[in-house]
Amino acid sequence: MKNLFILGSPRKSGNSKNMARAVASGILQSTDNNVEYIYLNALNIRPCQGCGGCNKTGTCVINDDMQELYNKIDEAHRLFFVSPIYFYSVSAQLKTFIDRCQAQWAQKYLLHRTQTRTIIRSGYLLSCAATKGEKLFEGAELIIQCLCDTLDIHYGAPLLVKNVDKIHAVQNNMGIMADCVQFGTHLIKNQDSPTDKL
Ligand SMILES: Cc1cc2nc3c(=O)[nH]c(=O)nc-3n(C[C@H](O)[C@H](O)[C@H](O)COP(=O)(O)O)c2cc1C
Repeated sequence: MKNLFILGSPRKSGNSKNMARAVASGILQSTDNNVEYIYLNALNIRPCQGCGGCNKTGTCVINDDMQELYNKIDEAHRLFFVSPIYFYSVSAQLKTFIDRCQAQWAQKYLLHRTQTRTIIRSGYLLSCAATKGEKLFEGAELIIQCLCDTLDIHYGAPLLVKNVDKIHAVQNNMGIMADCVQFGTHLIKNQDSPTDKL
């Protein structure tokens, strides 16, 4: 199975990336799986221009690094949307990527193109934040649920870590790292059953 980690933090080895690495190590316990990381901050992805260019074709007219990602999104079995919380939302890098999925929205809701697939595809939010508020992840969860609906993939239970701020806070916390590895092993053992939670 192809596991695609879309990394939204500008910190290359920050907390959310270390969550992703640990989840990946759990997943890679099954040799049927491979993992790819996409570091959005290094790519040239322009914000959606709202031009309506995709309305009739389902294809985005902006020719930049997002074009290669459309294929990768399509081929992945599991998609991990990885982001720190920035002002109760996902990072700008991830939000820009999400807005460019308007082309997929047009395919589904304007052009009524449906794909028949034999395998359940799933999407997961992996996120972390410095504070501990009750509503901390609500904005990000809603955005990723909406994205999964657009991409026609099942929204799986998210992995959310509060109270981490300094760049190595996750990496230095063995308990959090173990939970992240377990999140990954749970996915491969339970075959992404929609009802299963960590
Ligand atoms: C621009 C910006 C906005 C942030 N907004 C929030 C926030 O609304 N709530 C919060 O708890 N933490 C917030 N944080 C803290 C990050 O979520 C936190 O440091 C996180 O662990 C960073 O993860 P990373 O290392 O993967 O980038 C913010 C940080 C930055 C730089």
